[in-house]
Amino acid sequence: MIEKIEELLVEVNGFNTTSKEEIENFRIKYNGKKGVLNDFYETLKEVPNDQKKDFGQKINTLKQAVNVKLEDLKNASSSSSIILEKEDLTKPAFPLDLGSRHPINLVKNRIIEIFKSIGFAVADGPEIEDDWHNFTALNLPEYHPARDMQDTFFIEQNPDILLRTHTSSVQIRYMEENEPPIRILSPGRVFRNEAISSRSHCIFHQIEGLYIDENVSFADLKQTIQFFTTELFGKSKIRMRPSFFPFTEPSAEIDVYWGLNSETDYRITKGTGWLEIMGCGMVDPAVLKNVNIDSEKYSGYAFGMGIERITMLLYQMSDIRMFFENDIRTLEQFKTL
Ligand code: DAH
Repeated sequence: MIEKIEELLVEVNGFNTTSKEEIENFRIKYNGKKGVLNDFYETLKEVPNDQKKDFGQKINTLKQAVNVKLEDLKNASSSSSIILEKEDLTKPAFPLDLGSRHPINLVKNRIIEIFKSIGFAVADGPEIEDDWHNFTALNLPEYHPARDMQDTFFIEQNPDILLRTHTSSVQIRYMEENEPPIRILSPGRVFRNEAISSRSHCIFHQIEGLYIDENVSFADLKQTIQFFTTELFGKSKIRMRPSFFPFTEPSAEIDVYWGLNSETDYRITKGTGWLEIMGCGMVDPAVLKNVNIDSEKYSGYAFGMGIERITMLLYQMSDIRMFFENDIRTLEQFKTL
């Protein structure tokens, strides 16, 4: 019996293969329920007591050899299959999940493109502003509600440092540094201390436009906006409603005629067909004076719009919070755009 075990030990130690099937057969032959090892353990019961120890030790040696061999064979076969995989250059590549542009950026870029085509340049400004650039130079009087603690995130007070509440601050910075003619577009993030809901958010994005030159008129403003709405929405019918902004005089809200062709049109225009898309006006001479531009010689217009609002319109999104949650299920839908 001992001899038989010795023989098997040689066989086990000499066994070699990378075939998964052969390894499995080897395991069944030795470690299986009716395998060699269990057979020996059965036989052990009948071995005379004085030989039990020797015989038992031999079986254990064989068992260990089998387990070591099985471990080695498994390792060798899995690493050999990795090598094989590496070598198979015809296999499809591991798929890389490409990202997509954020819808706010898609629309921002589109708007910039439209205004660039008629000579506007992009200008940048800081998100942390002082009172002068965000309020005072824009002709916002002390008592204006936008200065209220409710609306503005202050970082420091006296002198006031705050998170800009609109991109109009860039107008002031740019006019301080540059001579007319000025034709700029300034996109960016703005901050307001507002409750978050489906329609409003404490962080959002605006695009500001500014044109200062000799003889700029209200008609130039209207024509520019009309060009813009035609390019962006394919809609050229607009109306200007009298409005008020401290930094423009006269001021207007621009409505686009969206139409009433579908149920959605009825819903988003509340049955009127018209949609408000931006504020605008002729730059108030007081603002030009604040930045040392001669208001006798120069005039200009300005406009400002919320990018979220326009994006929600274009893509029929119903909740502004979607832009900030970064839910893959939302963002993925913009992959091909
Ligand atoms: N700054 C305004 C706001 O945040 C938007 C705006 C309106 C900007 C009229 C302008 C403008 O330049 O002329 O509500």
